[in-house]
Amino acid sequence: MKNFELWNPTRLVFGENQLENVHKHIPAGVKNILLVFGGGSIKKNGVHETVTAALKDYNVVDFGGIEPNPRYETIMKAREVALKENVDFILAVGGGSVIDACKFLCVATPYTDGDPWDIITKRLGKVVTEAIPFGTVLTLPATGSEMNSGSVVTRESSKEKLAFGGPLCFPKFSVLDPRVVASLPERQIVNGITDAFTHVLEQYLTYPADAPLQDRFAEGILQTLVEIGPKVIHNPSDSTVAGNFMFCCTMALNGLIQQGVPTDWATHMIGHELTALFEIDHARTLAIIGPNLYRVMFNNKKEKLAQYGERVWGITEGSLEEKAQKTIERTVEFFHSMGIKTKISDYTEDYSEVAKTITSRFEERKWMGLGERGDVTLEKVEEIVEMSL
Ligand code: NZQ
Ligand code: ZN
Repeated sequence: MKNFELWNPTRLVFGENQLENVHKHIPAGVKNILLVFGGGSIKKNGVHETVTAALKDYNVVDFGGIEPNPRYETIMKAREVALKENVDFILAVGGGSVIDACKFLCVATPYTDGDPWDIITKRLGKVVTEAIPFGTVLTLPATGSEMNSGSVVTRESSKEKLAFGGPLCFPKFSVLDPRVVASLPERQIVNGITDAFTHVLEQYLTYPADAPLQDRFAEGILQTLVEIGPKVIHNPSDSTVAGNFMFCCTMALNGLIQQGVPTDWATHMIGHELTALFEIDHARTLAIIGPNLYRVMFNNKKEKLAQYGERVWGITEGSLEEKAQKTIERTVEFFHSMGIKTKISDYTEDYSEVAKTITSRFEERKWMGLGERGDVTLEKVEEIVEMSL
């Protein structure tokens, strides 16, 4: 196991009827809250009304319209409102997109040294010293953004989708009330299962690292998602199942399982390009790229693939290589069983140049070797994307 330092200051507030208590977690002294949300689902399912009622003692200003894959341009409009209204707390009410938008908003609002986009491109997330504190009310279990300090923002003008983060981007609190799952369309539930599942694989499916507890944590989340995934798809109004689903998604990317072990993240880096170029749902890009990355990087990953196959899918027959191969196929079957398509051509017809476009973007950014060993080279990226067409 490698050395590590684990720090996560987010207060996680889990349970039914916790939406009504959101005011209890607002820090003392706060007066003006910017309530940030997406395209309006929270107005239809009653979450906006419940949260607004709980915040009756504050001056609450609404900012709606954050899009899936949040746009820098929209967040900059929210920044103007935050400055004008003298906002001293931001409440994100939504899924990963709204939460990620608020992470950027919280550091971009006080930033006056230049274009806030620099915070992302010049990697200033870790050095900025000022941020408006924020909390979240999660409405879509998937990304883990509610308990981590990472964010992914898209710039419409350049069609770039880039990640950033830093210690000031941890939410002060996140409210996880499983009742919110009831109104989710099946597409988003399936996305959530797939995203969380792949988050675990990014941190687990590397090489053996003498970290049996982290392995068991990871396998526990995978097994639980396999067990409850179909149930939550079938009956999202079952708060018990929904709550377990929520907790899986949070635990998959709140920093715990990655401690002391190598991590990959190349599937995400390539997947983000597919969303930026074709607006394919984030989770679906992972189901497209992940299995082909495991095939191309097979020699790096075969020990953990076989372990994952044995412990999560019960694949015990054959040599290590055979078990590892079967495990990749079983993973694809899992995605297909939830209705997820795993080819780029299932989502767009305009893909002839995609592998070259992605590798030239990576080259410009000097991303020459991704993955746990830094050997997912541009040639490998091209091969993975070509296999995914
Ligand atoms: O916008 P509204 O109307 O609210 O509708 C949303 C949106 O259309 C809807 N929705 C959310 N909660 C709902 C609901 N509909 C009905 N009932 C509810 N309770 O769902 C749609 C998708 O929402 P979005 O927030 O975009 O989805 P998700 O949570 O999957 O977030 C995806 C974004 O997070 C980034 C992705 O790249 C993508 O931009 N990620 C963030 C990460 C992080 N910060 O740690 C890690 C991830 O790997 C990921 O990259
Ligand atoms: Zn993800």
